[in-house]
Amino acid sequence: MDQQRNIIVTGAKPSGQLHLGNYVGMAAQAIDLQEMDADRFVFVADYHQLAEPFDPASFRQVTLGIATDLLAMGIDPERTTLFIQSDVPEHTELAWIFTTLTPVSFLERMTQYKDKALVQHQNVNAGLLQYPVLQAADILLYRATQVPVGQDQVQHVELTRDIAGFFNNKFGETFVQPKALLTKVPKVQSLADPLKKMSKSLGEKSYIAVFDEPEVIADKLKRAVTTPEGITNLLSLLEIFGSGTIDAERYANNNVALKDDAAQAIAHFFAPAREKRRQLQVNAAYVHDVLAEGAKKARAIAQATMEEVRTKIGIR
Ligand code: ADP
Ligand code: TRP
Repeated sequence: MDQQRNIIVTGAKPSGQLHLGNYVGMAAQAIDLQEMDADRFVFVADYHQLAEPFDPASFRQVTLGIATDLLAMGIDPERTTLFIQSDVPEHTELAWIFTTLTPVSFLERMTQYKDKALVQHQNVNAGLLQYPVLQAADILLYRATQVPVGQDQVQHVELTRDIAGFFNNKFGETFVQPKALLTKVPKVQSLADPLKKMSKSLGEKSYIAVFDEPEVIADKLKRAVTTPEGITNLLSLLEIFGSGTIDAERYANNNVALKDDAAQAIAHFFAPAREKRRQLQVNAAYVHDVLAEGAKKARAIAQATMEEVRTKIGIR
């Protein structure tokens, strides 16, 4: 096994539109890492979404929409294998094997599980508990060394390391233990409730979608809460999406200027991506081809890993 090669794996659920938190925490890293010598895999985690609310009638469209958005933002299919999780059935096969190695108590400790079980208390399905086991399979199937994610996913990457260890102990050295990669701002806060992370599940007012039109961005920022935490969050958005240096004087007691400047910076930053998305949206055949090619490449690797796994555990 070549321990030196960098292998990057990350994913996003098809739960709606990608927002600035997804961009800053995950997508921007995945895009920047395209400059590094590495193998890269980015996928839309549709099987993960099944544990949470979704609409079967629009599910496929939402899934394809996330893939389109990732391409528009700068995921380059020449350098990154982009695919849809359910196109590679080895993910669920490996997840089952990992399920039999993972103590239930480890899963019950996961913060995301506890949070989601409260939010969707009428639907605490076993998939919600198993969620990080499938995530471990996503990551280890490609023998990832680095996993670019936001702060909220660090615990799942730690668990992935544990699961790799359980497997290696029982069946012999097979999986490398991957590391989570974080950015300078691993947690963008909600606009409406700056003590919580920006998230689709907290409603429209909480987030700015990457592809919101400039008027919508300005409008959402006008309503943003300006507690001290809120202001810190807005300043960090301005720093990320603006020209870099911030004139602190200009914003002392001037939240209107801060919100205006942040709105302009964000709208301007994503203007080329909005344009690219318009082009991709009328070229569904291209997106389809990229995903078919991505699934083929991913599957070849996933199948090779599964051959080794089946042999090690004595199924073959
Ligand atoms: P959401 O939490 O909005 O449903 P996902 O679960 O699909 O989004 O997250 C996809 C990626 O974006 C993950 O790597 C996650 O850590 C990252 N991410 C999500 N929200 C934020 C945030 N507010 N700040 C930084 N990163 C985030
Ligand atoms: N669980 C991640 C989230 O909620 C999405 C995800 C699924 C993922 N599989 C992954 C992220 C593998 C990184 C690697 O955001």
